[in-house]
Amino acid sequence: MSLSIRPFAAPAGAEVIGLNVDRIDATAFAQVHKAFLDFGFLVFRDQHLTPESHAAFSAKFGPLKTHILKQYLLPGSDFILVLSNKRVDGKPVGLEDAGRYWHTDVSYEDLPPLGSMLYAMEIPPEGGDTLFANQYAAYAALPADLKNRIAPLKARHVFNYSKLAAAPGSVREKLTPEQEKQLNGAVHPVVRTHPETGRKALYVNPGFTVAIEGMAEQEGQALLQELWSYATAPDVVARQVWQPHDLVLWDNRCLMHHATTYPTQYVRHMHRTTIAGTRPV
Ligand code: OGA
Ligand code: MN
Repeated sequence: MSLSIRPFAAPAGAEVIGLNVDRIDATAFAQVHKAFLDFGFLVFRDQHLTPESHAAFSAKFGPLKTHILKQYLLPGSDFILVLSNKRVDGKPVGLEDAGRYWHTDVSYEDLPPLGSMLYAMEIPPEGGDTLFANQYAAYAALPADLKNRIAPLKARHVFNYSKLAAAPGSVREKLTPEQEKQLNGAVHPVVRTHPETGRKALYVNPGFTVAIEGMAEQEGQALLQELWSYATAPDVVARQVWQPHDLVLWDNRCLMHHATTYPTQYVRHMHRTTIAGTRPV
């Protein structure tokens, strides 16, 4: 089996061609891993995965994490989070409105995941794309004085789940008291150095970053807004237009991502795994 890597004409992303991820060997894995570090997100098309093979391929990149939203895990699985607008007996079978804002996954924990792997089982004929923003490029585009200003700074990240659940039209279930307790938030550097590439990336996101540590509220918010104008500038953003059986792996250490909406008469049904990472530095 010979695989090739086709980089997209976009600020991030590449397609891995000629690989059945169920049959990956050590040589192919090394190529895929390098492409993951080079391009930030990888698209593997036409994969036919079971929850077990999806988890097994994901686990080659690191130990898997279970998600705090246990009510949306695939029944019987610790590691597959269901993203779906399907309902059974009126009850959503998965998270219907996941990530419809710029974010990096689970940045509100001390040890945020290094990556996530999303498998498209049913895709609407229009809408429901996923956007990826290259945070190496965002950092590189900052003026030198801004880079210097943020170099020593840290930011607080919080999962404001109750706000999402209270949003008009949300069908999110309330958190259990135990889940609430797990959500203390975390503090991370505003600029992180990728542990594998050594490159610097912006690491603040509109979804979960709520404040700059030690800075007055207004000044902190103004700084975050300024950073986000670089972090989400059109020239750092790539778009994944899904096809059924696409598997996409992304690097949470150097990308943000953003789910987009789709007409509600269509079904979008996906499985996600989450790969454990290290403390951002
Ligand atoms: C996620 C996520 C985006 C999407 O799974 O972490 O943000 O387009 N998904 O479903
Ligand atoms: Mn996400």
